[in-house]
Amino acid sequence: MAKATKTFSCTACGATYNKWSGRCDGCGEWNSIVEDTPLSAGPARKSLGGKRGSAIQLTDLSTEEAPPPRTHSGLGELDRVLGGGLVPSSAILVGGDPGIGKSTLLLQAAARFAQAGLKTIYVSGEEASAQVRMRAQRLGLSDAPVKLAAETNLRDILTTLEAERPQLAIIDSIQTMWADNVESAPGSVSQVRAAAHELTSFAKRKGISVVLVGHVTKEGQIAGPRVVEHMVDTVLYFEGERGHQFRILRAVKNRFGPADEIGVFEMTGGGLAEVGNPSALFLSERGEPSPGSVVFSGIEGTRPVLVEFQALIAPSPHSQARRSVVGWDGSRLAMILAVLEARCGIPFAGLDVYLNVAGGMKVQEPAADLAVAAALLSAREDAALPADTVVFGEISLSGALRPVGQTENRLKEAQKLGFSTAIAPAGGKAKGGNGLTLRQYGDLATFVGDVFGAG
Ligand code: TYD
Ligand code: MG
Repeated sequence: MAKATKTFSCTACGATYNKWSGRCDGCGEWNSIVEDTPLSAGPARKSLGGKRGSAIQLTDLSTEEAPPPRTHSGLGELDRVLGGGLVPSSAILVGGDPGIGKSTLLLQAAARFAQAGLKTIYVSGEEASAQVRMRAQRLGLSDAPVKLAAETNLRDILTTLEAERPQLAIIDSIQTMWADNVESAPGSVSQVRAAAHELTSFAKRKGISVVLVGHVTKEGQIAGPRVVEHMVDTVLYFEGERGHQFRILRAVKNRFGPADEIGVFEMTGGGLAEVGNPSALFLSERGEPSPGSVVFSGIEGTRPVLVEFQALIAPSPHSQARRSVVGWDGSRLAMILAVLEARCGIPFAGLDVYLNVAGGMKVQEPAADLAVAAALLSAREDAALPADTVVFGEISLSGALRPVGQTENRLKEAQKLGFSTAIAPAGGKAKGGNGLTLRQYGDLATFVGDVFGAG
């Protein structure tokens, strides 16, 4: 008999190894690799040689079938992130930090989908039924026709789903599920992987949509949602800063709609409320024009969103100056500082640089480059940009400004919110008018000289 070989997996990203190491090559996480425990009752693996399989039926790509009807929850922010409502027999993962509001969101979504006519079951592995009922009462959802269970035994859950045949099942959370054919503890990589696989394949077979809730874990003690990302059709992350009321539901993968779409919610005493106009929300705390503050006209998914970048520059008391970023990419900031220095002759050596996206929003677009550069310069020169100005554009290493996508939508949103000037790269399809003055620049040095008189 062949010697049983040990295998190891990363609890953060699910990468597998045949020996233990301190750091995962896949995701760079430290101390996240643990030994896999084998399936207890599984048959010994045999090679595929010898026995013949049966032939698979092949089909054409063309189809006469109409696309499946989607169900709308009536929560517009959620429906948009799903790509226009819930697709039948789809598997969805909702990840996020503990306490961010996943259970609240999904209880509200369950109630809405149930009211829209879907037979819905909500399985909580974390809270007792009474606790979930109390939350429902607080959210004013006690009358919603949702069926509730508090259970972690996967076999019992699957048997119940098989008998009940719901159209939507919500599993909160995948890390609490326990498959009895897997020896390791709930929350381990093998358990999470097995439970997610069982649930998603069962759901596909029976035509049930499943939503799996997954906690993001930093410590690596339990497996994070990354382990299941590839098994599901749609991956949504629920983000937000503690201390800020609003939450962002972001589609990072979607087989049935655009990725990068966001839905914006506000956590209130009565649960999550939709935010229909995020730009107004993100800019609501802006006061008088101040040095270091610049409004960026960004695109999140299919929708333009205005956000404020704030920069602070101060002489550094340390031998190594600080670079601190919240809500944007740190290496992108380093690049922009380097371009400002190399192409415009503006040094940041010996200066601490703090960059922040106001309100806890996270921006990922390179289109924010020019807004970041403007915020940095504005802070450095202690010169505020006029309050009615929005900025966008990508900066290349040569110092040239590159046009970005969806210029028209960016300008329209700025106009809608009462801005009268937009600073953008030359070229592209940008057009001013309708009360909006467009100032275009081909390279960063010209922009710097013209707007800040520096460089
Ligand atoms: P929860 O949905 O339990 O988070 P998760 O499932 O992601 O761990 O949300 C917990 C937080 O939300 C908790 O700190 C209280 C807050 N909350 C409200 O502010 N208002 C509400 O109506 C509810 C139900 C929760
Ligand atoms: Mg929860």
